[in-house]
Amino acid sequence: MISGSERLPSGAVSKRRPQLAPWRMAGRASEDQPSADDVVRETGWIFNNETGHDLSLDEFVATGTEEVGWYCHHLGLFWGTAASGRTFVEVGSGIGRMTAALTRYYHRVIACDLDAAFLERCRETVALHGVVEHLQTSHVEDGQTLALPDESADVVFSYITLQHCNREDALALVQEALRVVRPGGRVALNFRTWTAKDALLVPVGAVVRMIWRIIPSLAKAPRLVTRFGWQANRLSPHDVVPVAGEACPDAAMVMIFQSSRRRRDLSTAVPVHRLEGAHPGHWWLVVQR
Ligand SMILES: C[S@@+](CC[C@H](N)C(=O)[O-])C[C@H]1O[C@@H](n2cnc3c(N)ncnc32)[C@H](O)[C@@H]1O
Repeated sequence: MISGSERLPSGAVSKRRPQLAPWRMAGRASEDQPSADDVVRETGWIFNNETGHDLSLDEFVATGTEEVGWYCHHLGLFWGTAASGRTFVEVGSGIGRMTAALTRYYHRVIACDLDAAFLERCRETVALHGVVEHLQTSHVEDGQTLALPDESADVVFSYITLQHCNREDALALVQEALRVVRPGGRVALNFRTWTAKDALLVPVGAVVRMIWRIIPSLAKAPRLVTRFGWQANRLSPHDVVPVAGEACPDAAMVMIFQSSRRRRDLSTAVPVHRLEGAHPGHWWLVVQR
């Protein structure tokens, strides 16, 4: 692991920043499981929302493989082959649902996550389903800084992660992605913006996180409560594009990809492309340096 830091005591961090609590709790739960299949049955719902006594790692990884193919194709992230020596940084890798497939396409995949236990499980997933020699892991100890050198990656990618960070962490990670990508490389970051049901989801989430702040151990509450609590932000291109512009004033190209199910374009400042089948609240910032 690149920054082999000590696990942070969850109490100290979660009291101050409750949005980190469920991930650390789930990481701890994953440490107690005897096999990779058990990890998926116990904590897999955190990543792909599937539950069941018969879930297996194979099925879990298959969902990630499909999504890697789809997103890398549509966002223009398939460059060359693994043999061409490209480096891909995945921010918020979890237990490696997508990482396994990425190691087959990229020579070096750096899986970054807030939780060190997830990164250990990610290595196990990649050993079973990917090319483990292509994997490196990096602990995002403070939730906002990538322990990677400037201009060291061809692609920096993040999927269903930045919506779970608080706003400052998510925007800091945007800046970090643009620092780490090399000139000519591409950043593709997934966000979640407002939809009608957020009128309920976001305030309830704030209440759940307030309770976690007071009683951190409740962050391992039932699935439904946790799912409310971890929706930590809604960011639109209006919030993110200026931050990206400041971090990377010499970008060769800035684009937004949004769901084809939204009637209005999310941005008037940069070109917008439509993605068939994407979640209506999801959008992507794609920057070519
Ligand atoms: C919903 S999971 C998605 C994992 C993976 N991208 C996938 O699709 O299977 C979100 C992941 O982001 C990680 N995460 C949450 N906040 C983070 C932060 N501030 N920095 C890095 N990782 C974070 C969590 O630990 C978790 O593994």
